[in-house]
Amino acid sequence: MSIVLNPYARPDEWMAALHRLLPDDEIVAWPDVADPDAVEFVIAWRLPRADLQSYANLRAILSLGAGAEQWQQPGVPEVPVVRLADPAMSDEMATYALHWVIRLQRNFDASIAQQPAKVWEQPGYVQAGSHRVGILGFGTIGARVAKAFVDLGYPVNGWSRSGGETEGVTHYAGTDELDAFLANSDSVVNVLPSTAATAGLLNAERLASFAPNSVFVNMGRGTVVDESALVEALDSGPLRAAVLDVTDPEPPVDNSPLWTHPAVTLTPHVAGSTQVASASKLVADNIARIRAGEAPFPLLDRARGY
Ligand code: GLV
Repeated sequence: MSIVLNPYARPDEWMAALHRLLPDDEIVAWPDVADPDAVEFVIAWRLPRADLQSYANLRAILSLGAGAEQWQQPGVPEVPVVRLADPAMSDEMATYALHWVIRLQRNFDASIAQQPAKVWEQPGYVQAGSHRVGILGFGTIGARVAKAFVDLGYPVNGWSRSGGETEGVTHYAGTDELDAFLANSDSVVNVLPSTAATAGLLNAERLASFAPNSVFVNMGRGTVVDESALVEALDSGPLRAAVLDVTDPEPPVDNSPLWTHPAVTLTPHVAGSTQVASASKLVADNIARIRAGEAPFPLLDRARGY
């Protein structure tokens, strides 16, 4: 039997790490799969469905991403899919959110802009204790991001389907409480995945509910927000700035206003990358669990979509 490997980046590091962790396994770098029938596991960010369909004895897919929409496309075999829940990735995503929220809240760009003119003046800003940070999506990543802000003295709101109880966090639950969550957050950080329930969740009406002069940071999925309504909300609605690490599609089409809008900052899906050292261990542990007849974690729930 063999394991097919197709990471998004750092293939050599991945191969070396997996050889160390799974010394008795044959690990094959996709697409060089000589014997499709021998494939037991796939460890990948993505793989063409035709290839997946040719692995007749595939037991499970170990995904190298937190989001799992790519494994729910028509034609992907319905074997168990294990998502990646890596605290190291959550930490990195927290640094992305901290950077952008703080940069905008502290108004650092105003300081930078005056340097060429040799101006030494202190631009004003709202202090942390009065800047409410809303985390849209409160799974493991959302909870980690929330903690980063709580620890620095920001009032934090969390929105999820079912709410929760977290020290320092005001929880909002379900669509009924979404508008209040948005209205009470000066920065909204989205970490929601792409599912049927989140598609277009931030439509024109919801974007109009954002707090005056607020900031939207999207490091979840682009499908969650109606991008033309977002541009409207920046031009004539309550939004001051949008920082988008994810768009729909990625990258935005050539004539998308997102590329040139003065209040939009784009980054190319870099908020959280898969960390080989920690992720390879999680993947190897999950393979061991499956082989021992135990449940791997976290298993994609196809009904829920993540
Ligand atoms: C990245 O977007 C991921 O899903 O891990």
